[in-house]
Amino acid sequence: MPKGTYYFTKGFMWGTATAAPQVEGLNDLNTWSAWEKETGRIINNHQSGLACDWWSGRWREDFDRAQASGQNAHRLSIEWSRIQPAPDRWDENALDRYREMLIGLQNRKMTPMVTLHHFSEPLWVAEMGGWENEAIIDLFATFVKKSVTALMPYCHLWVTINEPNVFAFNAYIDGVFPPGKKDIKAALSVLQHMVLAHARAYHVIHELQPEAKVGTAINYRGFKPASWLPADHWMAKLHHHLFNDLFVQALHTGEFKVLTKKQALPQAAGTQDFLGLNYYTCDHVRFNPLTPGQFFAHRFFPGDALLSESEFISHDPQGLIDCVKWGHQFGVPMMITENGVDDSEDLLRPRYILEHLHALWKAINDNYPVEGYFHWTLVDNFEWERGWTQRFGLWELDPETQVRVRRPSADMYAEICRLNGISSAITGKYAPEALATLFP
Ligand code: GAL
Repeated sequence: MPKGTYYFTKGFMWGTATAAPQVEGLNDLNTWSAWEKETGRIINNHQSGLACDWWSGRWREDFDRAQASGQNAHRLSIEWSRIQPAPDRWDENALDRYREMLIGLQNRKMTPMVTLHHFSEPLWVAEMGGWENEAIIDLFATFVKKSVTALMPYCHLWVTINEPNVFAFNAYIDGVFPPGKKDIKAALSVLQHMVLAHARAYHVIHELQPEAKVGTAINYRGFKPASWLPADHWMAKLHHHLFNDLFVQALHTGEFKVLTKKQALPQAAGTQDFLGLNYYTCDHVRFNPLTPGQFFAHRFFPGDALLSESEFISHDPQGLIDCVKWGHQFGVPMMITENGVDDSEDLLRPRYILEHLHALWKAINDNYPVEGYFHWTLVDNFEWERGWTQRFGLWELDPETQVRVRRPSADMYAEICRLNGISSAITGKYAPEALATLFP
């Protein structure tokens, strides 16, 4: 078997990604805290509770873990409901804590990337209609101005909104995120408000910090026709258009285009300095006239797919190459802002990481400009409506005792970060089953 190393570019960012509602714990001011309390919303009625206990300061030990394992960057989110608990009240202590976290990253020589909205809003915003009410655009801009003013000495990489496409779909079509609606019209209007809120935030941040790099993190999902039938091909295209294209195209062209209906949003044109890509998996798509609420399709993983523990993800590294190629049309540098797999036993994760990084290396070697990779995630966390049933961490967490135990993937990822590459030695040690693909 050949030996060798696939090196990444000099200065490549290696990190993990986290989100405030999933790691901080003890928040009763946001939409998710209220949602969790409603029976039946979260699998097994799980509660986030302390989560990873970051709000009490346990971020310190987790940042130590990240640093000690060679990571040079970290993506985290700040929580609007803590910073602005009421429309007329700013909590300077909350901003202080975030300031401390960012200084904590700087002290550990890790570049921070801050997400300003990651799936949660203050309850007072939700009471006003949340993202359905266009008043949120001004409110969000005010929150961004306040937060960026406070935090910009320590950060220049900003993600305005995490996965607007997943948010609109899960909260307004599937109904599994708050406010739990099933209303396609509302979903499209929410997405449009998110385009405008992003554009406002983009300009607000650049006025404050001209050297800032501002982007979004879109969830790219591959959609493959289930057969040769033209109807399956059309449906795959439709899903790609609505889920992947719609939001990012609007930021690129200033046009919000749903099928043939166009709405000009010129203020959104050219408002990304980089494109964040969250890539996990691909779907097969079959036309189904009986499911208008799911855009006339049945989405599924094929019978021979290699699935994650909870069957949430099908292992498809080629999809990451497709994702990067797709992202390149927007003409800005890209970052992989999330990629990972639920796997409490760490059986698939080493192979998943290596094969995705190999795919990423191939894309970069073909000159697609990707500047960093943030693995999802550092320590097991509260996975939204799936509660604690999914374990995405490099470190295992017992949420009761807060004890962390490193998984083999944590050691493997550390070797990768330190080497700035993936080698046959690392592959042979952690995922020999991937040798044939990576080092044929
Ligand atoms: C993404 C989301 C993350 C994380 C991940 C794994 O959609 O941005 O917060 O939960 O999925 O489920």
